[in-house]
Amino acid sequence: MQRRKFGATGLSVSIVGFGAGHIGAPAQDEREVERLLHAALDLGINLIDTARGYGLSEERIARSLASRRDEFVLSSKCGYDVPGRTDWTGACVAAGIDAALNRLRTDRIDIMHLHSCPREVLERGDVIAALDDAVQAGKVRVAAYSGENDALAFALTCDVFRSVQLSINVCDQRAIRDALPVAAARKLGVIAKRPLANAFWRFRDRPTGEYCEEYWLRAKAMQLSPAPLDWDEFALRFAAHQSDVHTCIVGTSHLERLRRNVELARRGPLPADLVQRALDAFRAHDDDWIGQV
Ligand SMILES: NC(=O)c1ccc[n+]([C@@H]2O[C@H](COP(=O)([O-])OP(=O)(O)OC[C@H]3O[C@@H](n4cnc5c(N)ncnc54)[C@H](OP(=O)(O)O)[C@@H]3O)[C@@H](O)[C@H]2O)c1
Repeated sequence: MQRRKFGATGLSVSIVGFGAGHIGAPAQDEREVERLLHAALDLGINLIDTARGYGLSEERIARSLASRRDEFVLSSKCGYDVPGRTDWTGACVAAGIDAALNRLRTDRIDIMHLHSCPREVLERGDVIAALDDAVQAGKVRVAAYSGENDALAFALTCDVFRSVQLSINVCDQRAIRDALPVAAARKLGVIAKRPLANAFWRFRDRPTGEYCEEYWLRAKAMQLSPAPLDWDEFALRFAAHQSDVHTCIVGTSHLERLRRNVELARRGPLPADLVQRALDAFRAHDDDWIGQV
């Protein structure tokens, strides 16, 4: 699979990454998860994105891919949920990184994000300093920020971050205008999350309370159509080939979908008229449509 330079980090990443947010549920079959993770690497995916908050995801990556650690860029997220530490403090980030290294059974995490860290915490400085200390100690290779809107805008001014993770999809385009040009100018690595807009098209009726509800409402307001393509192809190629995006992390718990998503991304950028249609529809209906965390 095609790879791109990940900003000025020295890493290079496949245009599709594996979003490991869907392999954390205790009820999932361990062997299925293992098959999925190996298949991801076999398909040429070299970025795996997980987080403290994704259930058993970190542990399963460690168990399944211990013998293939050098084949992929490992991305995780921290800042909360460390026993005995207050969330969003320097001590929590420092202990969280050590705990993540332990769970991931590795001596380094390639990209470590502050996971939706609020702007006022970033401004305080201690949390950023703790992440930077981990970089200096060789525990983390790239200090990164994951989040949206005002907090993201602030993060983009902080020298310590060398990459960002943000929502980019047909129903979430603010960052294309606001954040991507800044990230590109600063030579940051860029990971697009929620690239399929959480597959909102699966629902005929409003999916009240579902993760994708906001995107479903936006798509309806935009009267968005993927024609002549299928929805997944339209959505994935839009996100994966957005300029200044280096990789998009697609989440799935199904091997067939993983294969299909890789194949779709390989087809390259959408025809220009389809991209323009999506951009115009968003702009015309943007009703304070902020980035979805
Ligand atoms: N940093 C953050 O705060 C943050 C927030 C959200 C996400 N993320 C990261 O981004 C990754 C992806 O985000 P996401 O899962 O929210 O959104 P997404 O990739 O836009 O959508 C994933 C959903 O689409 C389905 N799907 C996947 N391929 C499909 C296809 N070809 N056709 C139809 N449906 C398909 C999956 O269901 P099945 O499992 O049933 O295939 C899953 O429900 C996460 O795993 C995580 O790594 C990060």
